[in-house]
Amino acid sequence: MKKILLVSLFFLMPWYANAEGDIGIAAKGGFPEYLFLEKVKESEAHSTAEMISKALATGRMVIFAQMGKLTDPALGDKGFTGDVFANQWKAALEAEFMDASPDQQRIIDKLLWAGKLSMDNNQDRLNVKGVKWKHFLPAKWARETGLMFNSRTGIVTKQPAVNYRHPSNAPDQKEIEVLSAFVDAGSEAKPKGEFAMMGKQRVYRYFDPIMLIQPCLACHGKPKGELDMLGFQKDGFDAGDVIGLISVSVAVEE
Ligand code: HEC
Repeated sequence: MKKILLVSLFFLMPWYANAEGDIGIAAKGGFPEYLFLEKVKESEAHSTAEMISKALATGRMVIFAQMGKLTDPALGDKGFTGDVFANQWKAALEAEFMDASPDQQRIIDKLLWAGKLSMDNNQDRLNVKGVKWKHFLPAKWARETGLMFNSRTGIVTKQPAVNYRHPSNAPDQKEIEVLSAFVDAGSEAKPKGEFAMMGKQRVYRYFDPIMLIQPCLACHGKPKGELDMLGFQKDGFDAGDVIGLISVSVAVEE
């Protein structure tokens, strides 16, 4: 009996190991379809990516300014609708977009649409009374805005971080490289961009460092490993440290 078991195990093992080794591997070749919709001229690639990144960073700050109200358990309806948010966001961005080309304006309009929709989608969550933390903060708004912006443009936005909390912010190889240079540079880190290939598509990749300010430290600060109010282990950073970056990938016309 023992022998039969061992023999069958012998035949089973290599087959099993092989099947497991074939699972979870990225398909080879092909074309990342999500990059098709909007393509920018090479000469406008940098400024387009920069505008998108600035708009996301500004939207994050507009929401950040409301966090006290949004986490007040005594309030039901917060009145911070997609429209209210979008008006504040647009006002804060006006100067940034003055020189936008018609192509860029079309892309920005889609980003404004996505950002407003992201806020509208969170109204039920935000207007719950009696709960302080409702799983909404600037990084989540930017992540969900990026999803809808991507579905209408093909442009990819991410917020990779040193210790990322959301799995979709796991940095890829290039982002790890740039992020470690930004971390070394600390408060001196400057945005950078470069042309690259994504599958068969030429893209412009832009990276803008995200620095921490004092109020972020409640969750991302010290002591490292201590649980923050949401149950995540704190990252151990100080104000001024680079925690992550806004990553923008825009397809470029051939
Ligand atoms: C209340 C705790 C809390 C505070 C305060 C906070 N964050 Fe976060 N941060 C989170 C959580 C939770 C996520 C994941 C959000 C998501 O995508 O759903 C996150 C995500 C991020 C990300 C994206 C990477 C990732 O972890 O997925 C960055 C970048 C970031 N935060 C920077 C900041 C900055 C800058 C500040 C201050 C302006 C700040 N955070 C304040 C909890 C916090």
